Amino acid sequence: MIDEKKLAELSFPSAPDIKVAPPGPKSQEILNYQDQNEGSAVSYTRGMPMALKRGRGATIEDADGNIYIDMFGGAGVMAVGHGHPDVLEAARQEIENVTHALDIPTESRAKLVKLLKELLPKELTRVFFGGPTGSDAVETALKLAKWNTGRHGIIAFEGAYHGMTGAALALTTDSSHRDGLGPLVPGAQFVPYDYRYRHPFGCKDEDSDLYAADYLERVLSDSHSGVSKPAAVIMEPVQGEGGSIPPSARFLQRVREITEHHGVLLICDEIQSGLGRTGKMFAFEHAGIVPDIVTMSKALGGVGFPISAIAYKEELNTWPPGKTIGTFRGNMIAFAAGHAALTFMRDNEIPQRAAKLGEKVLAELKKLEAESKIIGDARGIGLMMGLEIVRDKKTKEPAGDLAKKVRKYLHQRGVMIEVGGHHGNVARLLPPLVITEELAMKTVEILRGVIQDIEREVG
Ligand SMILES: Cc1ncc(COP(=O)(O)O)c(C=O)c1O
Repeated sequence: MIDEKKLAELSFPSAPDIKVAPPGPKSQEILNYQDQNEGSAVSYTRGMPMALKRGRGATIEDADGNIYIDMFGGAGVMAVGHGHPDVLEAARQEIENVTHALDIPTESRAKLVKLLKELLPKELTRVFFGGPTGSDAVETALKLAKWNTGRHGIIAFEGAYHGMTGAALALTTDSSHRDGLGPLVPGAQFVPYDYRYRHPFGCKDEDSDLYAADYLERVLSDSHSGVSKPAAVIMEPVQGEGGSIPPSARFLQRVREITEHHGVLLICDEIQSGLGRTGKMFAFEHAGIVPDIVTMSKALGGVGFPISAIAYKEELNTWPPGKTIGTFRGNMIAFAAGHAALTFMRDNEIPQRAAKLGEKVLAELKKLEAESKIIGDARGIGLMMGLEIVRDKKTKEPAGDLAKKVRKYLHQRGVMIEVGGHHGNVARLLPPLVITEELAMKTVEILRGVIQDIEREVG
């Protein structure tokens, strides 16, 4: 396993380092320009007002020279960190060769497919590249499921995030993305997820993790459930935008059993949880299950080159040439960069390290939860973690405003995070997997100070 010294060399040496209160004057000028000239749906800078200059490892510098610990990680893209030298070198070499080729193969494409096949369960024999974003992979997976089953319905889970395009949006639950857009793609149905902190049926007993799966079974087996047999169930093996929610292994196993029993395909959406983030290459591995189709994107492009893919079982490989196409399904630079990133991860046991470091960080976050009046639940797996912020630990009243304050105060002290969750009240931690233990623990200490300050304010 790679040692901490080597990992430390990937990041800026002194982080965090806030020289001027963010946003500083240079950031502000660029932000103003963006505000006046780009569309009003621009979102991230509303919570993290800054313009970026350079990124290294798990750290990032803004336009005014402030250095932050990046616990946002480009929403899970930056697994090997910003500016990873192996990845940049592979991309540099590839840019001299060929930069666009639709699905005409190149050596770098073949190398990435070969490596993915080495990392994926052996049952998933086929790799197919969709358009450049995660949503494209989801659309492709859904098409494949519909094509093979001849059915069109899809069941997703409450709290799911699958993307912003047609069918993917219809399977994304956050009303802020859905409302006002009229009827979305039909055929989407939702069932509860194993979200024990806010249990869908209010249960607390030792089998409560299975009740949401039991509900899925009921929907599929009861001819009066109002849900026709779907083509697929699509599931994040750890919910991301829904609030960093790791379900129990038993829940995942049960969903796999139920889908198999009913002849419904299981799509695991690993766009955020996959490629090492949770401590295994794929989060479904924690439960020892194999889905029929898996989606990948985000970390697959190495350091943010856009790319997405699905992998699926041989028997689903029935679609004729050209059944699904698109101009940007072959980003050569992303293939080369992704190959370099995954090779680095495999050779340096980065997922295993994420598991160990994640355990240590979560133990600290649990201490913070115990000390705090506003952390209702500290949870996570590997380096995919979240703190559910509440007004009152007994009533569990969600406090989205306080979660936003956590984000704001952390930003001012040099740590970037995002918020998510059903009520926008989960402070989410998704650092590059190459973050050193020192930086991760520094983050916890800064977080402790922020939580204490907010608690003092709310009294
Ligand atoms: C689980 C999951 N699926 C799909 C997507 C959509 O990916 P993209 O934003 O690249 O379209 C995301 C993005 O956050 C995601 O987390």
